[in-house]
Order: sequence, then structure tokens, then C-alpha cells
Amino acid sequence: MTPVSEELQGAARIMARLHELAKCSSMGEAGIARLYLSPEQKAADRLAVGWMEAAGLVAKVDAVGNVHGRLEGTDPAAKPILLGSHLDTVVDAGAYDGCLGVVTAIEVMEHLRATGRRLRHPVEILGFADEEGVRFGITYLGSTALAGGWPADWFERRDAHGLTVRGALLAFGLDPEKVAAMRRDPGSVAGYLELHIEQGPTLDELGLPLARVTAIAAVKRWTVRFHGFAGHAGTVPMGRRHDAGCAAAEFTLALERIAEEIGEGVVATTGQVLLHPNVVNCIPGEATVRIDLRAPTDALLVRLNDAVMAALEEICTKRSVTCEKDCFFDTTAIACDALLTKCVGEAVEAVQGSVPAIPSGAGHDAAAMSALCPMAMIFLRCRDGVSHSPLESITSADAGAGLEALARTLLLADERLD
Ligand code: HGY
Ligand code: MN
Ligand code: MN
Repeated sequence: MTPVSEELQGAARIMARLHELAKCSSMGEAGIARLYLSPEQKAADRLAVGWMEAAGLVAKVDAVGNVHGRLEGTDPAAKPILLGSHLDTVVDAGAYDGCLGVVTAIEVMEHLRATGRRLRHPVEILGFADEEGVRFGITYLGSTALAGGWPADWFERRDAHGLTVRGALLAFGLDPEKVAAMRRDPGSVAGYLELHIEQGPTLDELGLPLARVTAIAAVKRWTVRFHGFAGHAGTVPMGRRHDAGCAAAEFTLALERIAEEIGEGVVATTGQVLLHPNVVNCIPGEATVRIDLRAPTDALLVRLNDAVMAALEEICTKRSVTCEKDCFFDTTAIACDALLTKCVGEAVEAVQGSVPAIPSGAGHDAAAMSALCPMAMIFLRCRDGVSHSPLESITSADAGAGLEALARTLLLADERLD
């Protein structure tokens, strides 16, 4: 396979490019944040298009802002194999979540070109524009445009400044009318492969760089708005308060308790808390929380969600507050495709001699792509399993292992897929 020297060069270029992408950030030197249809995305897109073209692909930014590159195969009748991940980030992010999969896929194409390998299948690389959903609260926005088509209401979703997705597309120089045509026909794509950091501690504890992914967790996200009674912090006796902030706090702790009681890999997080009027000497009349519930199986997610909703009702009754709730994201657990995962397993075995199998607690574009075609994922070790943090870290040697594993998986998939 890849001569070590070339693999090291490839790994060094992967690391250098990830650090270049990290500079495309609205936080400047203070950290990494690259939100959907932001100026920072435009800078990152320019880099990724340039790298794809240098690797021999025809590249562009598509109608929803994904970076898309394509290299024809030797068989014009063969359906494309897609590689990719996302280029957007959370706020105060690491440099590897998403970007690793895009930059490594481009490096695989560099390697194939350098070794004169032509694949039977066309290969397409996707740098998805919005997997995290930070700006508009819509997860898998870029990949859903290909895999399932956008629901009409997505165009009217607003960001924190009141700008709609439609408005942001126009401001970015894109045409919302062209989004619908992006949808791929199911069966028109041979498969999708995604290399991604594990974002968990297993590989770090095993002392191995790579794993095959078994499935992607089931996820439910809710916005819950508590309505209490605003008042003066200094004059309302404790026994006569309907403090929406305390109801939200008790609900947050209930989530933690319930997830710990159920166990079996379920997790529950209150990621956002907004109090109103959010001033120190006012009892909050309103509190809005956004919660994230996940489980390895659909049945466990139902159990977790039911218990959380029952706790919500109890807390509101006990505190004489009311609430409204909206489930804004809901996906089932999604198993990786057996044939493609076998290719991943053989590739990982060839690189490191063993094949850990890990379920993904994190969501990935591969979850959305599973509606379109068979998908499989490779996990790469990240230090202490830390992610969604500036402390996110990988080694150049592991980047080289990821490069070789993705290249081997693609070659096996090219042999075995129709
Ligand atoms: O939230 C997730 O699992 C992913 O990082 N979007
Ligand atoms: Mn992420
Ligand atoms: Mn990610």
C-alpha cells in the first residue's frame, strides 16, 4: 500500500490543511467557530475547492453551500462512491471534527493520482456546509439537501439575528430556487464513506488509532419554554414565587438523574438555558432550555424521553409553572451498511492488525446520507476523547493511519460495489 514516506507526507499535508481551515474562524485567534453561510465558511470553501482541484477533481460550491468535487471513473455506467464529512463547526470548536474527513478524502485522491490508480466508480467528495446546526438549529442541513431534500419550512427558519435561511443563501450568493434540484435519487449513489474523530475515549483507552463504527445513536432534541411569574428579587417571599429559572434548573438535574438511572449508554444534556428578563434582581418569569437526548437504540430513547417528559410534568405541577415544548430534531438509531463496514473492517485490520467496533454517540452526516445510499464510518482516535472543545487533538501519525484506512476502504468498495 502507501509507501511510508508518502503516507507521512500525506499525513503532514492533512495536518497542515486542518490548521489552515482552523484559521477560517469568526473567533480569530481566540478559537474556532465557522457557522453556516458565514464569511468564514466562504474562506474555508475557497481552500477546499482549491485542494480538490489540485487533486484532479472538478470542484464547486453547490446550491446549499456544500463543497463538492468529482473525479470520473473508468466505467461511465458506475454509480459514484461519495466520501466526505462537514466543514462547519460548533462554537469554540476543535480543528478536527468534520474537517478531518474532508481533508483526508482529498488526500486519498492525491494518493490515487500519485500512484496512477484509476477507480471503476466515479468518486465525489463532499464538504458539507452545516452538520452541527448551530446557526439555524437545523442539523444535517447540507447532507439532507442531497439525501432527502429540504422541507419547505427550512427556508424560513431564522438565525439569532432574524435572518432566514433563504436570506442567508441569497446573501452568500446562492440561489434558494436551485436547492430542490440538488436532491439525489435513492439508488443513484453506490455508497458513502466518512472518516471522523471518535469524539469519545474508547480508542484512546485501547491505544489504537482506528475503529469501525457499528451504528449512529438515536437523538431527540427539545426546546422547552417554562412560564413562571416575574417579580422583584428583593420583595417576593420564597414561598410565593413561580421562578421559571428554578424550574429549568430542576429539570436540568432531572435529566442528569434519569439518564444515570437508565444507564445502558443513554445520555441527556441541557445545552442551552435562556432566562428572561435575565437580570440579577428579577425573578425569571421565563426560562427556555434546549435539551439533547440520545440512546444506542430506539427503544432506549423512547424510555429516556418518556421519563424526561414525566419529570417535566411533575416539576411544572409542583412549581405551579406552565411550559410549552417543541421537538425540533428526532432521528432513529442508524446501523452502518454491512458490506461497506466489511470493507472498513478489512482496511482497519490491514493498518493496525485489529478492528475495534464502536457505536457513535455523536451524530454525523452519514446518518442523513443513509436515506440515500449504504453508508459506513471509520473512527480516528482523539486525545482523551475530547471534542467540541479547543482541546480536541489528533496526532500526525494517526492522520496517516486514517489516510491509509480510508484509501484501502475506498479501493475495496470500488471492487465490491456494483
Ligand atoms: O451533535 C452531534 O452529535 C454532532 O456533533 N452534530
Ligand atoms: Mn460535532
Ligand atoms: Mn462532526
